[in-house]
Amino acid sequence: MQTILVTGGAGFIGSHTAIELAQAGYRPVIVDDFSNSEHFVVERLEKILGAPVVCYEQDYRDVTALKSVIDKEAVTGIIHFAAHKSVGESVEKPLKYYANNVAGLIDLLQLCEESAIKNFVFSSSCTVYGEPDKLPVTEDSPLKPAASPYGTTKQMGESILRDASAVSQTFNGLSLRYFNPIGAHESALIGELPKGVPANLVPYITQTAAGIQPKFTVLGNDYPTPDGTCIRDYIHVVDLAKAHVKALSYLEKQPVAFHDFINVGTGTGSSVLKVIKTFEKVTGQKLPYKFGPRRQGDLVSTYAAVNKANDELGWQSEKTLADGLRDAWRWQQSLAKKS
Ligand code: NAD
Ligand code: WQD
Repeated sequence: MQTILVTGGAGFIGSHTAIELAQAGYRPVIVDDFSNSEHFVVERLEKILGAPVVCYEQDYRDVTALKSVIDKEAVTGIIHFAAHKSVGESVEKPLKYYANNVAGLIDLLQLCEESAIKNFVFSSSCTVYGEPDKLPVTEDSPLKPAASPYGTTKQMGESILRDASAVSQTFNGLSLRYFNPIGAHESALIGELPKGVPANLVPYITQTAAGIQPKFTVLGNDYPTPDGTCIRDYIHVVDLAKAHVKALSYLEKQPVAFHDFINVGTGTGSSVLKVIKTFEKVTGQKLPYKFGPRRQGDLVSTYAAVNKANDELGWQSEKTLADGLRDAWRWQQSLAKKS
């Protein structure tokens, strides 16, 4: 059984990926400093899996501590989720973002070389493309200047992994460019845990329906789209997690010094109004909303070309927008019961 180090494995995408890894016959070992997650997530993973989950509470940038985890647990591959991800905070505290998302990655890749790690998957983002010239966005679309330091860290991370992989004697790398992950595990035991007022669409919607936020604001309805609201590619987090399992088996077949970029989305764009209507339909909840001004820096429309993920990884999304919104709502309700 191969052991995969999952940095940030107590977070939103990492926790769902840990489940899919375990269910596919890998042994996930989590390293998380819980800077943006809760300890109960690990207990919930154990409940879902019916087995103990190995988790080290530490900063992945503590190279000495991480080296001893890699040696002790006989790690053969790494999925690197750990990063800061708030676009707004990255504008206010850029160095915090460069330190964690970029400097940390450099040390981690050096450790991979020293530890003869074979496979490395990096959490990248559709944010690297900026506003696309053509839709759907293919992997060879030009990267635009990032709209925030967070976006820059993802562009830099991809470049660092590409260049390091190209000359590596031990490892290969894959940057997965996630579109907009939503939803939660079907058990409603784990899901997204936004801190404070959510910045992202779906947690804002579920918190409004739950009465935590008073009203939802559609941030702009005068965009050049069919209904005037922005379009995104919302992918169910469980589908996204499964793409990581496929990515590992894909990398296992590659020689060292291989690197590539692959989009992970559904291939379908949905407007903000479509998301609201679908949410109301699948949950039976009425969502109070109003139209407000545009959010600075928002993209008009982006959704993924998924041919490469289909052809190379043998992966495609299976769950619908309705599934993602229903599961996000069930998770929101289970959180309300917990508190
Ligand atoms: P998340 O914040 O829920 O998970 C990240 C986890 O990493 C958290 O549990 C946090 O405690 C941990 N962490 C952060 N810095 C750490 C450090 N130095 N050492 C150890 N642990 C650390 O975020 P997520 O939504 O699960 O995102 C995971 C990855 O995917 C990130 O790299 C993010 O940039 C990327 N991504 C996320 C989205 C999205 O919309 N959620 C979209 C594209 C890409
Ligand atoms: C989606 C749509 C908003 C909140 C983020 C990150 C980006 C990347 C992907 C990580 C937009 C609208 C939102 C609200 C609204 N993540 N909206 N009212 O814009 O694609 O970007 O996720 O790499 O870096 O910035 O996602 O969920 O913030 O917004 O109308 O209260 O919902 O205007 O059109 P986005 P989002």
